[in-house]
Amino acid sequence: MITLNNVTKEYKKGNVGLENVSLHIDKGEFVFVVGKSGSGKTTLMKLLQKELEPDRGEIIVNGYHYQKIRRRELPYLRRQMGVVFQDFRLLMDRSIYENVAFAQKVVEAPNRHIRRQVQNVLELVGLGDRLTAFPSELSGGEQQRVAIARALVNHPVLLLADEPTGNLDPVNAREIMEILQEIQRRGTTVMVVTHNKDMVNEMGKRVILLNEGHIEQDEARGSYGII
Ligand SMILES: Nc1ncnc2c1ncn2[C@@H]1O[C@H](COP(=O)(O)OP(=O)(O)OP(=O)(O)O)[C@@H](O)[C@H]1O
Ligand SMILES: [Mg+2]
Repeated sequence: MITLNNVTKEYKKGNVGLENVSLHIDKGEFVFVVGKSGSGKTTLMKLLQKELEPDRGEIIVNGYHYQKIRRRELPYLRRQMGVVFQDFRLLMDRSIYENVAFAQKVVEAPNRHIRRQVQNVLELVGLGDRLTAFPSELSGGEQQRVAIARALVNHPVLLLADEPTGNLDPVNAREIMEILQEIQRRGTTVMVVTHNKDMVNEMGKRVILLNEGHIEQDEARGSYGII
């Protein structure tokens, strides 16, 4: 699903984002990416979204060789990817239904289909009865669940989440992690950046530890106790 070969990304003024990183993630895996602040986690996520270009090296996601992709092919790539952020990024003046449907409209599905899909993904995240509510009427945990529903509505093969529980209390954080795990069980490859050590240690998933732009550790049933 994801292959990086010797990928380097440097920012201006010589700031190292990632340095010579190679990595392979199979279809259907659940991977945590951890590491202290500035270690390159968000850089990795942005490279995978093709929001940033590497200076060197090769990135292949779901068969797309990033160097060879033309601009007009980008929407097809992005459609296969769901993205979730720490700060939810919902449209505050739109209902929950519209927030999720908006992502579908971008792919121009017929209306009947949109309604059913939106209902389905909102049920998956436990918000099937809140379609007409607005984001401001929801708790942080609920807002993040809407953001996850929005990321899922186009049936991505890959879900990228950058600190999805960073703004949530432990109870809501756990619920979000359980939803992400359920998404993996249904066949989606899931990659989650987190600082939540307890959760990582409890879940027993693959853990990639970044340090100053390098992979310091990569364990199939990893733990997160070093830093
Ligand atoms: N736009 C930018 N311009 C210059 N340097 C940047 C930029 N974005 C990130 N960096 C630098 O690249 C390095 C990696 O940043 P990155 O955002 O990937 O870290 P991170 O692991 O996501 O950290 P955090 O846990 O704080 O989110 C840091 O040294 C950072 O200062
Ligand atoms: Mg970050």
